[in-house]
Amino acid sequence: CGIIGFTGKLEAQDILLNGLASLEYRGYDSAGIAYFKDTGKISLRKTVGKVKDLRAICDDENNSTCGIGHTRWATHGGVTNANAHPHKVGQIALIHNGIIENYHELVNKFDLADQLISETDTEVAAALINKLYNGDPKEALKKAVAEIEGSFAFCVLFKDHPGEIYAIRNVSPMVATHCEEGSFIASDLTAFIKYNKRYFIVPEYHILTMKEDGIDLEDLNGNAVEPEYLEVNWDVTAAQKDGYPHFMIKEIHEQPQAITRTITPRIKDMLPDFSEDGIPDSFFEDVNDITIVACGTAMYAGMVGKTMIQNRLHIPVTVAIASEFRYEEPVITDKSMVIVVSQSGETIDTLEALRLANKYTKKTLSIVNVKGSSIARESSYVLYTHAGPEIAVASTKAYTVQAATFYLLGCKLALVQNKMSVEEAHEFIQTLSEIPNYIEEVLAQASNVEQLTKRMTNAANAFFIGRGLDYTLCMEGALKLKEISYIHAEAYAAGELKHGTIALISEGVPVIAVATQKHVYSKVISNIREVKARGAYVTLLTREKEITDPSICDVHISLPDIADEFAIFEAVVIFQLIAYYTSVGKGLNPDQPRNLAKSVTVE
Ligand code: G6P
Repeated sequence: CGIIGFTGKLEAQDILLNGLASLEYRGYDSAGIAYFKDTGKISLRKTVGKVKDLRAICDDENNSTCGIGHTRWATHGGVTNANAHPHKVGQIALIHNGIIENYHELVNKFDLADQLISETDTEVAAALINKLYNGDPKEALKKAVAEIEGSFAFCVLFKDHPGEIYAIRNVSPMVATHCEEGSFIASDLTAFIKYNKRYFIVPEYHILTMKEDGIDLEDLNGNAVEPEYLEVNWDVTAAQKDGYPHFMIKEIHEQPQAITRTITPRIKDMLPDFSEDGIPDSFFEDVNDITIVACGTAMYAGMVGKTMIQNRLHIPVTVAIASEFRYEEPVITDKSMVIVVSQSGETIDTLEALRLANKYTKKTLSIVNVKGSSIARESSYVLYTHAGPEIAVASTKAYTVQAATFYLLGCKLALVQNKMSVEEAHEFIQTLSEIPNYIEEVLAQASNVEQLTKRMTNAANAFFIGRGLDYTLCMEGALKLKEISYIHAEAYAAGELKHGTIALISEGVPVIAVATQKHVYSKVISNIREVKARGAYVTLLTREKEITDPSICDVHISLPDIADEFAIFEAVVIFQLIAYYTSVGKGLNPDQPRNLAKSVTVE
């Protein structure tokens, strides 16, 4: 869910609606705002649907200068108007991001049942705070959070405190700022960056009092706390479409610059250098094994990292799904390195997995895009990716910068552990630094890819096959297609297909095959013949030098020639374009696929 609050000199409604539009990537099944009217009353507008549907039911004229807004990704309770936020109970109106785990107990303990009209855990929190309220908002919040178990970011309006917003959080992210125009709070600073590039992360279990002329922050014992302001190095234009029809295609095209921004500061004398990140070389010594933990696309970037690092270092590298890792017995010692990967730095499963790993080893390292996010702050060291804001729900540039960071990291580990000579490292880093140019060449083929997806829009199923690094990439290719085109897609290690899944191959089923790894090239070609013989419609990606017998595929996509290890950076761009144009070809909105949210801060 995405939340925003504003109190200040300007009219709040537009700030809230525009802020929600930029937070829609966090959820978009319903939206709402609450604001103080001149009369001192709190008014609510909320509806199922997107922010544009909310805008349609808002008043044309609304001179309120204080309000809160929410865009929802349903957890407890279906997508209905009643379940949309804000929730108003008695004296208060509240918005919430997170999950209140003990809501049922709270209803019984505080006898709240007859005040509830929705099915949400959030309304229970609203009823609880209202019940505990006796004129002092901070006291009510303190008492309420002492009772609530779970994750939350709350923004609350109290009827007899017009012009003021109160906020508190645990786990769920919230950032705030005060500037000339007033005080802002939001799930993420894209919602208010237009007004200020300076912001602070609201510390957990601190109460924020926001007024037109400033923000007060205090801990639960009533001690005043000075907010620690940070500043971002991108501005509002980075979070706009900039002439592209969708954020996703804009972000696909931004990959060369994003990779350059991420790797250039970390290359000195054609060798990896993490001194600006404050990471000493000793951190990379004495590593017996590596566990990479992440969710979704970040996890698939981790798969690339695993294969690349394991091949170079010859030590065990495991990739764990964060939501699984955190509830099983971790096989980690103080000589294990744990690398957590996250675009947002706030994915709750990944954060909790990191907290668990921190109990076992000091060698925790995060690869994170959002500066100052929870995962970045709680790992021993952080390597920031510099993708800039990623708005489309389907991740593209975040994936390639994560993969590029793994390549720098793999090279550094191999050098420190004497598994790679300086000459080899020079060559490796030289190729890595040329990746942005190769990606530009691939992007020049975008219109060809658009043509070939015309056929894909009718498919019910699709298969992505490859071996080694290509296989890790296929997982990301299949995920991309599934999430934005709703075509059922599976990734298979090409050699494994014949052990079951080939039963699904029939006349016309699309198979996208990648064969960029020389040592298994002929094996993949054999596997392609197997599916072709059963009627598959094969799209084959190889490097241009590879001589391909035209009869083995229906469409051939040729990639610029590059060393095997680096070909994934080219092929993934083709996969992203296939998914994008298939989605657009089906008349869907690739930026906002159904049921998904970009930043999942619930378990
Ligand atoms: C969500 C998004 C995915 C993303 C995953 C991990 O599920 O829909 O696109 O890959 O979270 O997000 P993170 O911010 O941790 O990289």
